Amino acid sequence: MEITKDILYVGVNDHDVDLFEGHYIVPEGMAYNSYVIKGEKTAVMDTVDAHFSDEWIGKVKEAAGVPDYLVVQHMEPDHSGSIKKFMDEFPETQIVSSQKAFTMMANFFEGEDFADRRVVVKEGDALDLGGHVLNFVTAPMVHWPEVIMTYESTDKVLFSADGFGRFGALDTIGETNEEDDDWACEARRYYFGIVGKYGMQVQAVLKKAAKLDIEKICALHGPVLVSNLGYFLGLYDTWSKYESESQGVVIAYTSVYGHTKKAVELLAEKLEALGVPKVEVTDLARSDIAEAVEDAFRYDTVVFATTTFNNGIFPYMREFIDSLVERNYQNKRLAFIENGSWAPQAAKVMKGMLEGCKNMTYCDNDVRIVSALNEASRAQIDALAEELAAAYK
Ligand code: FEO
Repeated sequence: MEITKDILYVGVNDHDVDLFEGHYIVPEGMAYNSYVIKGEKTAVMDTVDAHFSDEWIGKVKEAAGVPDYLVVQHMEPDHSGSIKKFMDEFPETQIVSSQKAFTMMANFFEGEDFADRRVVVKEGDALDLGGHVLNFVTAPMVHWPEVIMTYESTDKVLFSADGFGRFGALDTIGETNEEDDDWACEARRYYFGIVGKYGMQVQAVLKKAAKLDIEKICALHGPVLVSNLGYFLGLYDTWSKYESESQGVVIAYTSVYGHTKKAVELLAEKLEALGVPKVEVTDLARSDIAEAVEDAFRYDTVVFATTTFNNGIFPYMREFIDSLVERNYQNKRLAFIENGSWAPQAAKVMKGMLEGCKNMTYCDNDVRIVSALNEASRAQIDALAEELAAAYK
């Protein structure tokens, strides 16, 4: 695939990975992107997962012959796994990366840090290929500390490392994306799962990007972004500021025997009847937690509903709240439904877990169920529904 006349796609598609990065389901597979830039000298942008080394090296040879440079933007093994094989295959090629990345290289490859073949770059450095110039931008913690991004100033292409990535193999989802909704769904799950904790660092990179004239974005995962870049940059701005993207209520629940589920269904019904713009109900025991995390960041309101369990809360809810808190969860309206047959205390436990989160608004009307719904708890659900719906009027 041609990105521009001199920039070619040489990435691979993975349909065998069961869990990306060890915990994300990827029903559409995964792409490990790599690119060749052909000036008077030739550079390859990043490698691919080690399972695809041979396929990828074949593509590089076809596109670039013997490359002059391998640029390593990020050392996570989905991109760095083929470095050693590549450098053995092309003994004259130099490797271009940050100092921190070379330290990681030695750790990943039994002390091999390519000492006599390396070019160390830092913020503001440039590498002139002749006809194309690579300008390096540091992007620490987006999403590892060694990350650099690269702006090719002739064709105005930003190589954004993991930034602007999404789940999905390109032979399934398409090579370029101009369909905004398709991109946002799996890019949002990817962002909040993988980069979500580092909003401040993403903001720093967006400020640098704002000074560049960017026509295309080539990420290490997902399709090349070729138009409507303001939309993609705008979403990253919203997400990294921890602003809610959409109005609506997420009800995330666990239910052991179905009584908490009944309460949740009743609340959802009432919210819909009261005209709440969107109501998203998620059974945490039976759905992808990363999807639930994505929704909890996307919408402005979350209702947590769970049972008291071993003097705490049900495990799936604990994992869900931990996943939010460790990603700097903030700026939401929250409500709680608790259930317990002899000493309900789930709401207190959940609030305790969330107490360090910034700028949270707690609803006045929590719901307490003692074993099963009754007149009193139904009245509490009515009151909570009215309170939540009032916020959208
Ligand atoms: Fe796609 Fe952070 O690796």
